[in-house]
Amino acid sequence: MNSLKRELILAFETSCDETSVAVVENGEKILANVVATQIKSHKRFGGVVPEVASRHHIEQITLCLQDALAEAAVTYEELDAVAVTYGPGLVGALLVGVAAAKAVAFAHNLPLIPVNHMAGHIYAARFVTPLEFPAMALLVSGGHTELVYLPEPNRYEIVGETRDDAAGEAYDKIGRVLGLSYPAGKEIDALAHAGKDSFKFPRAMLHEENYDFSFSGLKSAFINTVHHAQQVGEELNKNDLAASFQQSVIDVLVAKTIRALHAFPVKQLILAGGVAANRGLRQALAQRLTRLDEVEFVKAPLTLCGDNAAMIGAAGYVAWKNDVRAQLDLNAEPSLEFPWVKGALK
Ligand code: KG4
Ligand code: ZN
Repeated sequence: MNSLKRELILAFETSCDETSVAVVENGEKILANVVATQIKSHKRFGGVVPEVASRHHIEQITLCLQDALAEAAVTYEELDAVAVTYGPGLVGALLVGVAAAKAVAFAHNLPLIPVNHMAGHIYAARFVTPLEFPAMALLVSGGHTELVYLPEPNRYEIVGETRDDAAGEAYDKIGRVLGLSYPAGKEIDALAHAGKDSFKFPRAMLHEENYDFSFSGLKSAFINTVHHAQQVGEELNKNDLAASFQQSVIDVLVAKTIRALHAFPVKQLILAGGVAANRGLRQALAQRLTRLDEVEFVKAPLTLCGDNAAMIGAAGYVAWKNDVRAQLDLNAEPSLEFPWVKGALK
């Protein structure tokens, strides 16, 4: 019987600094999700070095593939499709995953499903509960910060986005100023919980009639405050600095998300991306959403907020069911973006 058939997707993710291969059943169950992180190699440079990332992906991809199939106890013959992140991301890094996915699809005559990395982040939430449409997603990662409207499955439309730094990027940059190692988001989150918002950094674009964000002004205000203190030999409280920075980020993210939810009534708000692991942000959104009780708050699981291939398998499954296919000439698209929602306030 068709409804009982298990449909297996092999998924690849290599857009940045994690090499990941997963096997996902029926778009909702993780049979394996192998993630080889390169963070240690990039730490000493304070950020991801593209050439180093590509080299690591090449070394890891076949090992991750073998491990994922072994862990899932699945053979190539049992697979139904191959999904792969083809953008956005670092071109050399993306190409490794794309080449691997194409090789498997070609060798085993399987359909090849191209997946937008950001759609993957959204579908990390699918492992918590089925997505219901229309939905809104707040995507906050190291490379992106955007509000995405999902009118129906497999349609993604940008409602607003950052005009400059992504939220995670701002965390990592101020982390460097605080002497923390890369990536700094998790540690700043922890420091913030022990401090208070005493510096009152700016909340950029808070009252503008759009759904966009800006974090570079906050970053500059933070850096100026720290440098000035260093010059005059004043010791600032790290916890309070972290708490003040974090509160400014959260206030803007929450305010713009609530504004978007009023303009686009939805059944679910999905919080996803690396920064979605932030405790303060999860709490603040949950609190504000109690006043919008028709909206279900769906948070990507903490373990799946960062880059991984399981989320690509889940998004790929929906794309596959919607007849999305790539040919073997699929290329990496480093600047891949969702289209803007109609009538967006840009
Ligand atoms: O989605 P992701 O794993 O990679 C990209 O696609 O960018 O996001 C990584 C980002 C990093 O900037 C990291 O500092 C941030 O997520 N991050 C956090 C937390 N955990 C990770 N930021 C704030 N609070 C956290 N708890
Ligand atoms: Zn990501």
